[in-house]
Amino acid sequence: MTNHDAPVAGHDEGQKDAASRRSGAADPRHPSPSDLTRHEKAALTSGADVWHTKALPRVGVESIMMTDGPHGLRKQAVGGDHLGLGDSEPATCFPPAVALGASFHASLVRRVGEAIGAEAVEEDVAIVLGPGINIKRSPLCGRNFEYLSEDPLVSGVLGAAMVDGIQSNGVGASLKHFAANNQETDRMRVSAEIAPRPLREIYLRGFERVVKTASPWTVMCSYNRINGVYASEDRWLLTDVLRGEWGFDGVVVSDWGAVNDRVTGLVAGLDLEMPGGSGHTDAQIERAVDAGEFDESSLDAAVARMLDLVRRAANRPAPTGALDVDEHHRLAREVAGRCIVLLKNDDDVLPLARDARIAVIGAFAEHPRYQGAGSSQINPTRLDSALEEMRALAEAEVTYAPGFVRDSERGAAAAASREKDADALRDEAVGRAADADVAVVFLGLPEATESEGFDREHIDLPADQLRLLDAVRAANPRTVVVLSHGGVVALPFADDVPAIVDGSLLGQAGGGATADVLFGLVNPSGKLTETVPQRIEDTAAFGNFPGEDGHVVYGEGILVGYRWFDARQIEPTFPFGHGLSYTTFSYGDAQATVRNGDVVIRVPVTNAGARDGREIVQVYASLANSRVARAPRELAGFESVEIPAGATREVEIVVRRDDLAVWDVRLDRWRVEGGQYDFHVAASSRDIRSTVSLQIDVDPGRVPLSRESSLGEVLADPFAAQLVRQTIQAFADQMPGIANVLDDEVMMSLMSSFPIGRLVGYGGMPITTEKIDELIAVANAGPDALGGDRS
Ligand code: BGC
Repeated sequence: MTNHDAPVAGHDEGQKDAASRRSGAADPRHPSPSDLTRHEKAALTSGADVWHTKALPRVGVESIMMTDGPHGLRKQAVGGDHLGLGDSEPATCFPPAVALGASFHASLVRRVGEAIGAEAVEEDVAIVLGPGINIKRSPLCGRNFEYLSEDPLVSGVLGAAMVDGIQSNGVGASLKHFAANNQETDRMRVSAEIAPRPLREIYLRGFERVVKTASPWTVMCSYNRINGVYASEDRWLLTDVLRGEWGFDGVVVSDWGAVNDRVTGLVAGLDLEMPGGSGHTDAQIERAVDAGEFDESSLDAAVARMLDLVRRAANRPAPTGALDVDEHHRLAREVAGRCIVLLKNDDDVLPLARDARIAVIGAFAEHPRYQGAGSSQINPTRLDSALEEMRALAEAEVTYAPGFVRDSERGAAAAASREKDADALRDEAVGRAADADVAVVFLGLPEATESEGFDREHIDLPADQLRLLDAVRAANPRTVVVLSHGGVVALPFADDVPAIVDGSLLGQAGGGATADVLFGLVNPSGKLTETVPQRIEDTAAFGNFPGEDGHVVYGEGILVGYRWFDARQIEPTFPFGHGLSYTTFSYGDAQATVRNGDVVIRVPVTNAGARDGREIVQVYASLANSRVARAPRELAGFESVEIPAGATREVEIVVRRDDLAVWDVRLDRWRVEGGQYDFHVAASSRDIRSTVSLQIDVDPGRVPLSRESSLGEVLADPFAAQLVRQTIQAFADQMPGIANVLDDEVMMSLMSSFPIGRLVGYGGMPITTEKIDELIAVANAGPDALGGDRS
């Protein structure tokens, strides 16, 4: 058989193999790349259609299906599109990542992953395209609802839990979007210009954690470029870092349409182009190998990984037909309850009394906004409305007025008619509020204002909603605001209403969960994973987002999110990590010890109120006098703990030594700086309850000296300083003036930035290049080489 006539097949034919697997017949064939023709190899490394890989019937390789992700399944039975346009099979819509993150609870997130994985098994889907763990660099990113946090520890820990949960079913996850895909504007071309430290410490750190701790079957490379190179063609990213440094052994799949040049991508480490179907780029691969343009071993490596993936997928359990849809809905409600953030609750306006006369206002109460638009849009199995669920729990009448129109009509005529409607709707709502004990106003972002594919232009709620709120609270000061939104919104009314409940996007059971929290059946425990700014102008990327002419400069460096607000001492409306409960928690004194290199923080936390509750205890690390620029505080650990009313729990939080490291650009690796670290145990990034200090040893390894090293750097190395002193003493006879130069503070502050290589001949110094090179060589070899002690 020649390279070009080996049959490859699409999904349907591949399913015959799947059927034989389901019948339990063992497949004796485990082909390796050498069993495949070049044509088959090229075919296997691109998709058959929008959702499937190709089958190779000759060698028993079946087609597997991938489906979005991330907060439920979007399996399309017929046709396919990756923009969330077409129909998909009903599936449980769990809270999207924007909400899920607020639980700060890995085991809860894992349970969601398990449930999604179980639904994947039932739908015969081999790989779930999620989680998405990109950092929320700017509140304007249109896709922030699909991401977990502005902090890499939160993204990494919870992203790993999601992968673990999905994969515990024997199906795969796809960690996305790798990497630095932090905006939608020009997402398919823009180059994110990022310096090494923020790239490693902020944008790659979460991915590194998930890959190392949860081993996702696949990683999805992003559309954008990073420092000029397409992620899909970035050998440094896909091979050196992902596989070489982090040990990833799975398949790199392209985001849908992210392949710019297939051959370059393949050589860089991209295994699977998605979608596929035309065979056009497969032919490019074949031609390039024929022409000797690249070594076939790159293709073989990708093929080996693909074969491995298909083999893993073939071992997944067969559908049982026993999926309990109601049970998953119940789980979605429980989880959504854990994701709601109580931002404010003056005078204990909440929880609502069951017999209170309640006016529910705002169209979102009746027609919930519960997920974002684009590829992650799920067709829910059921959909709860907060209004109905509140009525089900209430013991008195719950009145309702929509208050505003939820539409996306554009144009002057539509706006004028909306304005007219708005007056009437507002008057109706005010009437209801005036007659009630309490008004609960559901505000939020219209669907059309945020989505995959474009960014937002501002962070404001619609003006008619804000006007409505003003009118309602004038009629009834006991006004509670409930928010629905994917991206963060400005809250100009934060000081003017007694209570704010942040529901972000809660999934299909969010209505029930909101009712549970409002009536106190669930005590709220979520905390913000993203700072709520007063103004977009206060945020880190403002002025540098979304860039222009194909480039976006990450000028804020490592100061992303709360790191920026803390460093600049900017007051947010609500800080990262903030969230209240219907009870209060008091913290005792924290203690810190070292266990296996990690820092273990222990702190007693007391539930000082009358209700059982859950607290998310956070630990932020600081190092004063760091050699490099740092944020004042960086999240280093967190735990979500259930504490019964009146009880005290000893909370233990492990801060991994690795999480204290900074990226040392001189050594091109992670390094823990030595010094006295402060560990702040906190209820939010701005609510520190106890601080404990600990001396941490530096990681071994030193930066080699060179002629470019400054005098200051050389003298900072005790052994090298000793050599310099000896050298100067040797010259003192010829130049008596320099004998005490090292002890002359003024002189040293003037000279400390002088590269030592340039001392040759400077000011008549009798030192030669050879002598300097010798000094450098001895210093770099270290005192052990001389048989002496290094002090
Ligand atoms: C999105 C991915 C998604 C893929 C398939 C792309 O537009 O960026 O997140 O998994 O489509 O739907």
